[in-house]
Amino acid sequence: MNRDDFPILKRTINNHRLVYFDNAATTQKPQTVIDALSCYYAHFNSNIHRGVHGLSQEATALFEEARECVKKFINAPSNQEIIFTRGTTESINLVASSFGKTFINEGDEVLITEMEHHSNIVPWQMICEEKRAHLKVLPFNEKGELCMDLLDGFLTEKTKIVAVTHTSNTLGTINDISVIIEKAHAKNIPVLIDGAQAMSHEKIDVQALDCDFFAFSGHKMYAPMGVGVLYGKEKWLNAMPPYQGGGEMVRHVSFEKTTYNELPYKFEAGTPSVGDVIGLKTAIDYIESIGIEKIADFQQELFQYAFEKLSQIEEIEFFGTAQHKAAIISFNLKGIHPYDVGTILDQYGIAVRTGHHCTQPIMTRFGIPGTVRASFAFYNTFEEIDLLVEAVNKAKKMLQ
Ligand code: ALA
Repeated sequence: MNRDDFPILKRTINNHRLVYFDNAATTQKPQTVIDALSCYYAHFNSNIHRGVHGLSQEATALFEEARECVKKFINAPSNQEIIFTRGTTESINLVASSFGKTFINEGDEVLITEMEHHSNIVPWQMICEEKRAHLKVLPFNEKGELCMDLLDGFLTEKTKIVAVTHTSNTLGTINDISVIIEKAHAKNIPVLIDGAQAMSHEKIDVQALDCDFFAFSGHKMYAPMGVGVLYGKEKWLNAMPPYQGGGEMVRHVSFEKTTYNELPYKFEAGTPSVGDVIGLKTAIDYIESIGIEKIADFQQELFQYAFEKLSQIEEIEFFGTAQHKAAIISFNLKGIHPYDVGTILDQYGIAVRTGHHCTQPIMTRFGIPGTVRASFAFYNTFEEIDLLVEAVNKAKKMLQ
């Protein structure tokens, strides 16, 4: 499906046609996004919100059109609630630092889960350490599903925020975040959703979810690296102090006192990555030209096919067998280190990620050093999955 839109898929690696199954790390970019970047630098490059000159005004208009596009794509109520960041990691750090400064105090609790990416653990650990607050961790079961029966007990009068991943980058689990949000809100606790893996796997509607914060990256949804988004409800963003100081985020500066700009600029210090933001809009236009539901359905078909085929390999172990899963499969061959499998797959031109996937607590939970992870995008094919299965079988023969 639409493979020709992605020039990199014509590449060879180690004399084999590239089979790219590392989409959870970053997706490939369609020609239209690549063209948008070069068009921006060839015709519009200028600093934004700063100049009366025509070029600056054109660049500003393109940048703000991108904000409007993101707003519509995730159905946010207003442009003021869309903050451009460098990516999911920066979005979460912004909330942990800024929300934490104001709302987290000694003895308070922050609730995360055992399946979080490091970027939804460490920022919270840092603020908890600073404020002498406690980090609580909701565990998951053998299948990689959150222990939802324990959730009520974890939401206490001391819980100041819940930060949870929508979709696990390692296990593929799609969490029941609506229930988590509902239960947290019943106790007036705000919820941040790490949406990094969700954006390319399903339609996101932040108003329907009613989450307080939603963080995601462009590069995992066919956009350039270096741009991400933080959606936040205005009531929280207005109550939070700026994250970084500098140009753009101020209204008036004197040595005695500085006043801050309105939303969303209060949280956008410094020159943003204008070209990448425009690239994000182009990626959203591209997704919408195909349809996110169509993309999601095809990825599910690929996932089901791959899971069935890989299951036929003797001594394969899967990590993450939840009922609701995105197109992400983590596995190991018994007794074989995942790096060794990954290295052999690479010899056949197959790109998978191996290691802990920035989720070391998941590895600790299963008592393993890492996994081999194949993650699919709609431009992958059933034939490519056959090549993966064949190469895993070869790796097994060579390594056992
Ligand atoms: N978070 C990205 C991954 O899971 C980098 O690979």
